[in-house]
Amino acid sequence: MAPVLLEWYARHGRDLPWRRTRDPYCIWLSEVILQQTRVAQGTEYYLRFLARFPDVGALAAAEEDEVLKLWQGLGYYSRARNLHAAAKIVAERFDGHFPERFAEVRALPGVGDYTAAAICSAAYDAPCAAVDGNVYRVLSRLFDLDTPIDTAAGRKAFASLAQIQLDRAQPGRYNQAIMDFGALQCTPKSPRCSECPFAERCLALAAGTVARRPVKQGKTHVSDRWFNYLHIVCGDRTLLCRRETHDIWQGLYEFPMIETDGPTDFATLAAAPRFRMLTGDAPWHLVRSVDMPRHQLSHRTIHAAIHRIETPRLTPAAESLAVETAALGDHAVPRLLERYLTKYQM
Ligand code: ADE
Repeated sequence: MAPVLLEWYARHGRDLPWRRTRDPYCIWLSEVILQQTRVAQGTEYYLRFLARFPDVGALAAAEEDEVLKLWQGLGYYSRARNLHAAAKIVAERFDGHFPERFAEVRALPGVGDYTAAAICSAAYDAPCAAVDGNVYRVLSRLFDLDTPIDTAAGRKAFASLAQIQLDRAQPGRYNQAIMDFGALQCTPKSPRCSECPFAERCLALAAGTVARRPVKQGKTHVSDRWFNYLHIVCGDRTLLCRRETHDIWQGLYEFPMIETDGPTDFATLAAAPRFRMLTGDAPWHLVRSVDMPRHQLSHRTIHAAIHRIETPRLTPAAESLAVETAALGDHAVPRLLERYLTKYQM
């Protein structure tokens, strides 16, 4: 994974001021600012801060009021107070030299696991994976993981996966690369999957689950979901998938499905990577599209559309899903599909 990511970064990575320095003070300042602030706004403050406090000694010597004033507009003011307190610790306890050991950096006020890893990797090339929201998203999609990221077990699992993926020869660059990849390419909404260097190996893309990664346990789910089913028939066989994830209908069978954030027309589905993965270059044709009546579950409303497609041959990916149409009734399916099959299956 790392070589692909680093190649992407060489082409598309952002040239940001804190990436041009190895000075731990500058990198620390940038990471604290960026903890809750977007890059565009954060950059201004970063430059302003450095102009006024060019090193940790200057920051330590300042009055807290002045630090807070410079921070004005950034919000989350405890960050500024922690920054100032940490600068004083560095000045007094470390004689003005920013600490190098991870544990010492991590112990500074306002520095958590993520920030300590980001600083130590960028400044000292320490082999520490920095796991921020971008990294959770990228890894949960590449590996199609439905482990909730907002639980202790989830954080632990992602931290160890991130550590395994880390390029230990250039951890600083790798961490910046995966962050930018999440910020620019593998974005929360409308990720650019069709031009993604991982399109061939992204497991969530293959499974059609990109929009639902990463999973958050605490999140109250949006009450409306749009399921677009591909009822693909080839001769006397039909494609059927088992729902494996921690979601509604776990363990039940359904047609291959593409979930979208709203109603979607068939042309959009036909252009989706999952559709192409199942139909390949075969001359398939659309037999009919059925908009099912709204399906009400306890916590959500399912809006399902079912598109029946006939194709003369199956791709290898589709082949692994094919079952005898006559045996469809042997599989447990959600009630929604049962109704459809009763009405339309010949
Ligand atoms: N967000 C947090 N840290 C960042 C960094 N080093 N570069 C870009 N965005 C970030």
